[in-house]
Amino acid sequence: MKITCINGSARNNGSCNYLLDSFIGGITGDSVDTVKYCVGDADLHFCKGCKKCYFDGKCVQSDDAKKIIDDILTADIVVIAAPSYWADVPAQLKTLFDRTTPYGDTNPNRILTARKSIKGIAIAVRAGVRAQENELILNAIEHYFGHLGIDTVSRISITQVDKLNDLIVNHESDIRQIVELANKLSQNPICYPHK
Ligand SMILES: Cc1cc2nc3c(=O)[nH]c(=O)nc-3n(C[C@H](O)[C@H](O)[C@H](O)COP(=O)(O)O)c2cc1C
Repeated sequence: MKITCINGSARNNGSCNYLLDSFIGGITGDSVDTVKYCVGDADLHFCKGCKKCYFDGKCVQSDDAKKIIDDILTADIVVIAAPSYWADVPAQLKTLFDRTTPYGDTNPNRILTARKSIKGIAIAVRAGVRAQENELILNAIEHYFGHLGIDTVSRISITQVDKLNDLIVNHESDIRQIVELANKLSQNPICYPHK
């Protein structure tokens, strides 16, 4: 089984990273291949909007996008955790979304598609109180999953987390939920249709 985790934050040592590490820590089984990226560390250039990929399924740019997307499309489980930046996903994650255009189902000439059923998990974290703002983040991730044929099996919203310590001190049950989800999914990803 392969699990691909995307930290949608600009930073690789914050709450999204902690939640992804919690998920990875909850995975059981020997033959699990786990890969984690932080979009803030990746070499990801803005989409140029040239639409050349609509003709040949390839991007004109060469950076980390292809490798990351390849690891998404060959996974069994994909987890994307993103903080709210101005009530939206961070620009780095949006750049990854935009650069996935060669592989989305709106591209008539895409050359790489998911060969199997992939389960997706969306996690949103924000500093403020209203959970509604996180819905925008979760919807953006689910929209992305949808165009890649990835089934969203869980949407997790965490509020009132500005610093990592807020998460660790006040969100023990959310962290436990993520560990348990990883545990269940890694035992049987097929039988976990839960939102
Ligand atoms: C540029 C920027 C914009 C932000 N905008 C919002 C916001 O609109 N709403 C909110 O609740 N939190 C906002 N935050 C706070 C982050 O969502 C919060 O600190 C989150 O826990 C960071 O996750 P991380 O530790 O994984 O980076 C913003 C943070 C930054 C750096």
